[in-house]
Amino acid sequence: MKALITAGGRGTRLRPITHTQNKHLIPIANKPILRYAIDAVKESGITDIGIVVGVDNGQEVERAFGDGSDLGVRFTYIWQEAPLGLAHVVKISQEFIGDDSFVFYLGDNIVVGGIERFVQSFRDGGLDCYLTLARVRDPERFGVPEFDGTGRVVAVEEKPSVPKSPFAVSGIYIYGPAIFQAVNAIEPSRRGELEISDAHDYLLKHGYKVGHGEITGWWKDTGMPSDLLEANRLVLSKIDERIDGRVDSESDIAGAVVIEEGAEVIASRVRGPAIIGRGARVVDTYVGPYSSIGAGCVLEHCEVEYSILMDRVTVRSVDVRIEGSLLGNDVEICRGAGKPRVQRFVLGEQSRVELM
Ligand code: G1P
Repeated sequence: MKALITAGGRGTRLRPITHTQNKHLIPIANKPILRYAIDAVKESGITDIGIVVGVDNGQEVERAFGDGSDLGVRFTYIWQEAPLGLAHVVKISQEFIGDDSFVFYLGDNIVVGGIERFVQSFRDGGLDCYLTLARVRDPERFGVPEFDGTGRVVAVEEKPSVPKSPFAVSGIYIYGPAIFQAVNAIEPSRRGELEISDAHDYLLKHGYKVGHGEITGWWKDTGMPSDLLEANRLVLSKIDERIDGRVDSESDIAGAVVIEEGAEVIASRVRGPAIIGRGARVVDTYVGPYSSIGAGCVLEHCEVEYSILMDRVTVRSVDVRIEGSLLGNDVEICRGAGKPRVQRFVLGEQSRVELM
């Protein structure tokens, strides 16, 4: 079995974080979003992985992940000329997949709890296609399954205005070779894309064996930068404590806290779940639940909670608690000196500041 993971798209809805970074490289609990997909397929025993990237920012992904050898897998990069839909992604990957079965994993989805049981169900059922379904509040944003009276999926509709069930088809699919017949038979939708839901619907209408299972612990952004905080909360809520860095005797650590190698916590209080990245320095500071502090951050005399601080962020002598915040690489927040006492900002395009 192989895997195909998508890592294209501009992620415009998550600006400004995605101005300078492919969405798939944004860190959640100090790990790029794409890494969750890679780890999930690897844990299910798959090592031959195709990564589908866009021509506009695929290089960035290739630079970050290389050939996969340091993760014990093998990546083949597949370049998509234009965003022509997920069924198009499958279509252009036919040569890479060959006659194998494969997991198709949308790289901007995060699943806690792995995908092994889905792979097992696909195999045990001798299926052509396996869909993972999640109960959601807003099915109209997704592919939506329709069930018959016996609980079988009989149709899938992409972003229907009147959803036929409260479920979304999540971005983790498993296919046998029949999917290529489907993606080659369907026509582009109104938005000009080859829709993966139309391919699923084709399989259902042509008598192929389509199974499904319910997925929990699934995350996919709704288009708001603050969604990243929710992903961070979801992932941190499952972490195990690990202290590889240094914690001095004046500090107090409680709950599931990861302190990475080379990080130092001095005269501080850390309340998990939280992660403090490699080489970070935390001095006289409170780090509260659901915080991810990136590598090389410096936090001194401040309080941070329910926030993502990417790499090399500095927060120094700030006396209001920083909460529900996303700080990009190399951001600096510090107390100004001298008179007049003013707030001074240097903010990139589409930044957002809330003052109390
Ligand atoms: C895509 C699929 C949709 C699926 C969703 C899951 O939507 O078209 O069927 O439910 O991924 O993430 P998109 O994110 O491209 O709007």
